[in-house]
This record gives sequence, structure tokens and C-alpha cells, in this order.
Amino acid sequence: MSEHAFTPALGRFAPTRFYDAVVAVTREKVWRALTVGHVAPRAGDVIVDVGCGTGSLALMLARTESEARIVGVDPDPEVLAIAGRKTQAVRWVVGRGDALGELLGGGTADTVVSSLVLHQCPVPVKRAVLASMAGVLRPGGRLVITDYGLQRSALMRLAFRTVQFADGKADTQPNADGVLPEMIAAAGFTDVREADVIPTVTGSISIYIARRRSGPAVSGGGDYGGRGGPRLG
Ligand SMILES: C[S@@+](CC[C@H](N)C(=O)[O-])C[C@H]1O[C@@H](n2cnc3c(N)ncnc32)[C@H](O)[C@@H]1O
Repeated sequence: MSEHAFTPALGRFAPTRFYDAVVAVTREKVWRALTVGHVAPRAGDVIVDVGCGTGSLALMLARTESEARIVGVDPDPEVLAIAGRKTQAVRWVVGRGDALGELLGGGTADTVVSSLVLHQCPVPVKRAVLASMAGVLRPGGRLVITDYGLQRSALMRLAFRTVQFADGKADTQPNADGVLPEMIAAAGFTDVREADVIPTVTGSISIYIARRRSGPAVSGGGDYGGRGGPRLG
């Protein structure tokens, strides 16, 4: 990773202020609408958007169900400043996805959603973030992960190289090889399935859904961040 402790929204080369324009070419409207459909916000739900970036998904969730409590978490104050200008209906929280228990309290969320985040994270961070998501969810709570997943054809693997150029091959290749479902299950989730696959000019984006297993969350943090792994709340 760069001088940041995380990869910023547009990766290593492009400034964050262009993010919303760039993400539009990924068939954003299609996968965001499908993601909101899988989250299916209900009145009173606590829904956490991990790596919320400039807040487009959290905003859509808040507009879909104004009585749901939407929390957007991201380590980058620059993207959260953009998100905060879009809406005050979401609670914006500066923090990393592997520290959700510390930030929000364990077992407090009904649904965790995350879009286009895990492909940017090193493997130990992917595991730590997923374990932290399990920790912040109540047992039976829902997980919706929308991200670049298994790239099934030569065309999609070629298209995905644009993302790999920006975010680096080491972090992105495991997603392209299809590791996410296994990692999600290992982090403490059940009923893991790939609900949708959306081909785009930057590679195919998959939507994975799962449920938090009952019983204690599984630690997947290892030694990421030198803090002995994530605290699960
Ligand atoms: C490609 S952007 C996606 C933003 C937003 N979810 C969307 O759908 O447009 C990836 C975001 O993940 C955030 N991020 C990177 N590492 C993270 C981590 N360890 N925990 C939480 N967020 C992270 C970045 O700051 C960035 O805003």
C-alpha cells in the first residue's frame, strides 16, 4: 500500500475528487440498485456501509427507507467530506473496517453492506474486515458484499486489469481467483451465495450475500495492523 494505511478510493494514481465520475463507468446504477435490493432496508434496521467512500450507496439506502439507521464507515476523511455534503441523513464515521466493534459496538447491526472495498485490501485485511463485520452483526444479521469477484472469462480478466493497474495485483488477484465466498464463510457466516454477477468494462462485479452464524464471531485478523487482530466488540 502507499503512504496511506489503506488504498484510497481511486487507487494509487487518480485523485479522490474524480471518484464519482470514474465509478459511473462500472455500470454503477445497475449494481447499486441490485445491492440496495439485497439489503432491503426496513424501518428500525441498523445498516452499516463499510468503506462507504463518497457515500452514494449509503445515500440510496437512506432514501429507500428513511426510518432505517444508516452508518457509513471509512478510514479516509477526504471521501467522508464528500459524503457529508451529499446527506446528513447518514451517520458518517471515520474508521477502518477491521475495527467495527470498537467503533460501533459488537452485535449492534442488522445488516452490513460493503461495495468495492475488499478488492483493494491485502489478504490479511480482507480477513480482518470480514471478521469485524461478523462481530458487529447480531446473530442472523445479513451481509451483502458487492465487489469484483471471480473473473470467469478471458474478456473479464482482461477488463479487470484496469482495476489491477490502479490498486495493485497483490491485493486484487485473490478476488479475481474467487476467494471471497470461502473467506466470508471462514469469518463466521452461513448461507453464503453469489446472488448476482454484473459484467462491466472493468471486470465482473459479484454480489455475495450471507448470514451471520449464531454463536461467537470467528477471529480472522491475524496480526494485521500490529494490534493482535481485530477487536470484535
Ligand atoms: C473503491 S472505494 C468504494 C467506495 C464506496 N463503497 C462505493 O461503493 O463507491 C473503496 C473505499 O474503501 C475504503 N477503504 C480502504 N481500505 C479500507 C479498510 N481497511 N476499511 C474500510 N474501508 C476501507 C477507501 O477509503 C475507499 O473509500
